[in-house]
Amino acid sequence: MRHSKSKHRGTVITMNWSTALDVKTRVAVGSGARHKLTNVLAQIGAGKRVLIVCQPSTANHWLRDVMSILPSEDFKVTTLEVPDGESAKTSEWLLRIWEHLEGRGFDRQDTIVALGGGAVMDLAGFACSTYMRGLNLVLIPTSLLAQVDAAIGGKTAINLPTGKNLAGTFFFPKAVLADQEVLSSLPQRELTCGLAEVIKYGMIEDTVAKGSDYEKGPRALLEVIEDLVRDNYDYDDPILSGLITSCIKMKLYVVAKDPQETGLRRVLNLGHTVAHGLESETSFALSHGQAVAIGLAQMTKYAVGQKKLEKDALERVKELLIRAELPYEIPKGASKEKLAQAMTSDKKRAGEKIKLVVPHTKLGTVDYETLLPVTELAKLL
Ligand SMILES: NC(=O)c1ccc[n+]([C@@H]2O[C@H](COP(=O)([O-])OP(=O)(O)OC[C@H]3O[C@@H](n4cnc5c(N)ncnc54)[C@H](O)[C@@H]3O)[C@@H](O)[C@H]2O)c1
Repeated sequence: MRHSKSKHRGTVITMNWSTALDVKTRVAVGSGARHKLTNVLAQIGAGKRVLIVCQPSTANHWLRDVMSILPSEDFKVTTLEVPDGESAKTSEWLLRIWEHLEGRGFDRQDTIVALGGGAVMDLAGFACSTYMRGLNLVLIPTSLLAQVDAAIGGKTAINLPTGKNLAGTFFFPKAVLADQEVLSSLPQRELTCGLAEVIKYGMIEDTVAKGSDYEKGPRALLEVIEDLVRDNYDYDDPILSGLITSCIKMKLYVVAKDPQETGLRRVLNLGHTVAHGLESETSFALSHGQAVAIGLAQMTKYAVGQKKLEKDALERVKELLIRAELPYEIPKGASKEKLAQAMTSDKKRAGEKIKLVVPHTKLGTVDYETLLPVTELAKLL
């Protein structure tokens, strides 16, 4: 575990974003972005009460730091530590947050600050959207995955015994403070998992640029990611900071274009049908990022097999995943029949077919309208 102050405290970029539901979201990205918390609360006219929801790791590393940003004469701050990972995304913890808010007299002017990985974003966001039909929500995502994905896009969720993310809302935060410094305590495995989603963004970049207002930079994102993983990189690598900003922008533009996932937003699911099948078949022995990495490689292999993509693309994706220390093959012990079966319960299923996102023509471009009969899902393996 690395825990040092960032050597590259660069500029914090702030974007003001009008979401589909007419909520203005301020998105600050860069080392030190968390220090904008007090300003943001003033800008949104927040009430005095603030609940910080955290998980054990962020309680340990960042809670005191974030609390010190909020002057005690201006804010009445309380905290609630929820269990780590998916164990927090339950109706029991949702209820505990509601009870906390009720017991301390929170009203609609008051604020929940979610400080943690994607699990905390999802749970705290859900609680926030449903208590009194919505308080102010501020997200401080502390994992790479949460910064580039879970904190952006307004989806909140808890799990039900029958499945992941089955209960949820669309609810946009008033602010997202994506601070690279908080990644300093993130275990390497979690940093790597987040990188799988970053690679996914690289593989959809041209389609996003074509279908939304997202503008590509001078170099393709995929090339920049290749630069990052060429040498040992760390959380504070300036290349990583540029990548985080690009991924956040890409998701913001996609969500602005298609908030309810009826078209373009589906591109974000590249590799995820295989990934969800793998997570369920391996009983979550693979992390989400590892499963996504395998999903990206499998979809590339499928596209090459269907002659939709040149052969070199598969080598390039594999090479990138290997350098990023991510897997690219279905684990040896996994049963392909069970895996294909697990994929049939994907949320993207429409009747007897499943909507897939398939790489097309060249890496960076995808076709997100491909319909595959569920009986043919084994072709993806
Ligand atoms: N709402 C969305 O759009 C969306 C998108 C993608 C993923 N998700 C959800 O996000 C979750 C996955 O996100 P995740 O991987 O961040 O999960 P997570 O919250 O479980 O965090 C992963 C691990 O990293 C630790 N951690 C987080 N920040 C840390 C830090 N700064 N220092 C040390 N340890 C730290 C956590 O304690 C945990 O053990 C899933 O529940 C998934 O469903 C939601």
